[in-house]
Amino acid sequence: MITMKGIILSGGFGTRLYPITIAVSKQLLPVYDKPMIYYPLSTLMLSGIRQILIITNPEYVNLYQRLLRDGTHLGLNISYAVQEKPRGIADAFLIGEEFIRNDKTALILGDNIFYGKGFSEILQNSARLTEGAIIFGYPVRDARNYGVIELDDTGAPISIEEKPGYPRSRLAIPGLYYYDEKVVEIAKRLQPSQRGELEITDVNKLYLERSELKVVVLGRGFTWLDMGTYEGLLDASNFVKTIQDRQGFYIACVEEVAFRMGYIDKNQLLSLSKQFNTPYGEYLRAVAEGDHYITSDYI
Ligand code: DAU
Repeated sequence: MITMKGIILSGGFGTRLYPITIAVSKQLLPVYDKPMIYYPLSTLMLSGIRQILIITNPEYVNLYQRLLRDGTHLGLNISYAVQEKPRGIADAFLIGEEFIRNDKTALILGDNIFYGKGFSEILQNSARLTEGAIIFGYPVRDARNYGVIELDDTGAPISIEEKPGYPRSRLAIPGLYYYDEKVVEIAKRLQPSQRGELEITDVNKLYLERSELKVVVLGRGFTWLDMGTYEGLLDASNFVKTIQDRQGFYIACVEEVAFRMGYIDKNQLLSLSKQFNTPYGEYLRAVAEGDHYITSDYI
C-alpha cells in the first residue's frame, strides 16, 4: 500500500508558447486528444499515488477543478492550491506543506510526458522509497536546457547542474522527483537562484551532498518529452497520435489507468464512458468490456 502523496505543478506563465498561453493555462492545452495535465496525472496514478495536489495560478484553479473535480470519479483525492507567482519549482513544497504533512512526496511538472514499457514498475518502486530521493536521468542530444546529472562508473551521481553552458553529461533530469519527508525542511532552507527561483536542482544537490540521491536512468526505447515550446507541443501530439493509431492503446487515458489500477470498477468506467460521444468514450467502453484488441495481455 503506497502512502506517498503527489503534487502536479501546473503554474507558470508559459511565455515560450505565447501567444497561445496569453489567455489559457499551458497545462490545459490539448496534447492530441486530451488535456496536457492528463499525462503527468497518469504518471502519478501509475505510481500508486491517490492523494494529489494540483498547484496552479489563481486565475486557473476553477478550470482545473472543472476538469478533474475532487478526483472521486477516478478513485483519487484531488485538492488544489495556488501559486501566486512562479517562484520556482521547489516552491511546490512550501505551498504544499500542509498537504504533505509528514509524508513522502512525488512531484511532477504539468508539462512532462513519460511513456515506455516497464515504467509502471519503475514508478511503483520509486513510490516505495524509504529514505532520500529518487530522480531520473534521460539522455538527450543537447542537455543545456535542463538540469544535468553526471554519474560515475557505478551509476552513482557525482554532480548536478542547472542549465550548464557545457554539460558534463548528456543525462537531462526530467520533471519527476520522489522525496522522503525531509523535502519540506530542505525547501525552506533554499535561497533564490540568480534567475530568482527556488530551484529543484538545489534540492537535489542537498540530497546528493548527504549521499541520499538515487538516479534511475531511463534509456533507449523510453520516451520523455516536455511540452513547453511549439515544437515540444507538436512533437508530443504527433507522438501520442502515432502510438495510439498504431497500437490501439491510449497514452495517459486517466479513466483507463484508474480502472487497471483497481481504483474504479467496470461499472464506474462504463458510466464515465457515457459522458463522451467521441472515440475516447468508445475506447473507455472497450476497456471496460475487455474487448479482445485491448485486453491487458500485452501491457
Ligand atoms: O523539464 C525538466 C526541467 O524542468 C529540469 O530538467 C530542470 O532541472 C528544471 O529546472 C525545469 O527546467 P525548466 O526551465 O524547463 O523549468 P520551467 O521554469 O520551464 O518550469 C517547468 C514547468 O513548471 C513549467 O511548465 C511551469 C511550471 N512552473 C515553473 C515554475 C518556475 C510552475 O508551475 N511554477 C514555477 O514557479
